[in-house]
Amino acid sequence: MPQPRRLHDRFFKQAKAEGYLARSAYKLQEIHERKRLLRPGDRVLDLGCAPGAWLQIVAEAVGERGRVVGIDLQETRHDFGPNVRTLVADAYTVDPAMLKELAGAPAGFDAVLSDMAPNTTGHGDDLLSARLCRRVLELLPALLRPGGNLAMKVFEGSEYPAVLRETADAFREARGFKPKASRDVSREMYIVATGWHG
Ligand SMILES: C[S@@+](CC[C@H](N)C(=O)[O-])C[C@H]1O[C@@H](n2cnc3c(N)ncnc32)[C@H](O)[C@@H]1O
Repeated sequence: MPQPRRLHDRFFKQAKAEGYLARSAYKLQEIHERKRLLRPGDRVLDLGCAPGAWLQIVAEAVGERGRVVGIDLQETRHDFGPNVRTLVADAYTVDPAMLKELAGAPAGFDAVLSDMAPNTTGHGDDLLSARLCRRVLELLPALLRPGGNLAMKVFEGSEYPAVLRETADAFREARGFKPKASRDVSREMYIVATGWHG
């Protein structure tokens, strides 16, 4: 029998205690600890950034010399500090050149992150998630510098193996990863890829 969803689990409580805007902070923290995706001074783009827990983690990782740009369909309301810029924008229509200019990254971002998720209905969510991932892959030539890194959310489903393969074709290494803070009942995974070669 399915277990009732525990909304206030240990990651929720930990996020509240440590001042993070959402439990999702710990997903990126674990990905970064495992794969060392971010370095001090990096220029990082966060697609689907609201409410902003990943922005908090990235801002800490890149430090004062780094720059972070986040976009989302929804507004973010937190003050993330001077090295973070957020804007309301749709990944399907946003202008990549404007994002690079905002970050002061003419040669491209060092890392692109996407925690974008469709509004879930229980019908075809995995296909909508795969579509978002393919949009991210489509944007990479205009956004990521050679050798750059990627972490993106994907819902497991019929398109997941193909999306992973398409990502692997463009990177030195690409793997699926399920962080501990990701709920067991959720079909979300992350594709973590390093060394973009286009
Ligand atoms: C799981 S939340 C992101 C949580 C965020 N990483 C954090 O830690 O606070 C997923 C976000 O993806 C955004 N999103 C979905 N489709 C999008 C699109 N086409 N363009 C931009 N953002 C999108 C949603 O508005 C939502 O805020």
